[in-house]
Amino acid sequence: MWIPRLIEPILRQRMDTRPVVVLTGARQTGKTSLVRRLFPEYEYVSLDLPSEAEQAELDPARFIQRHPMPLVVDEVQYAPRLLRHLKQVVDAHRATPGQFLLTGSQPFEVMAGVTESLAGRAEVLQLSVLSYAEILQSLP
Ligand SMILES: Nc1ncnc2c1ncn2[C@@H]1O[C@H](COP(=O)(O)OP(=O)(O)O)[C@@H](O)[C@H]1O
Ligand SMILES: [Mg+2]
Repeated sequence: MWIPRLIEPILRQRMDTRPVVVLTGARQTGKTSLVRRLFPEYEYVSLDLPSEAEQAELDPARFIQRHPMPLVVDEVQYAPRLLRHLKQVVDAHRATPGQFLLTGSQPFEVMAGVTESLAGRAEVLQLSVLSYAEILQSLP
């Protein structure tokens, strides 16, 4: 059973207006489930896979070539160099909204710092654990 998250309309709205959106939150808060559910048409890659993380970090240009946009990159903290590279990619596409949706399992402050290189292009949103309100709302 899917429990609707309060952040869903906010995440959609940001994806409609920002080239890059970063969803942070501790493990098991529901990041992967949420992005896959809301954006099923997006190409998806998780950097939990060591081979993908390695290429994203060492050869970000090739990594981007292999994964067409719009793209979800899950667990992006494993390739901080990819973020610096994304700025050029995003600007080359004239800052079209919704190009990249990234998730990270680090605290909001850390992710916000890591995405500084994407200033003005990325917005960082925080996913918290399921709230009492969300659970209540999903009950019949
Ligand atoms: N909105 C939701 N409704 C119901 N179950 C959910 C929801 N979000 C996540 N889950 C469940 O919680 C667990 C953790 O979710 P996951 O997306 O893997 O979290 P994360 O990617 O943040 O580690 C999974 O078993 C998933 O099926
Ligand atoms: Mg996940």
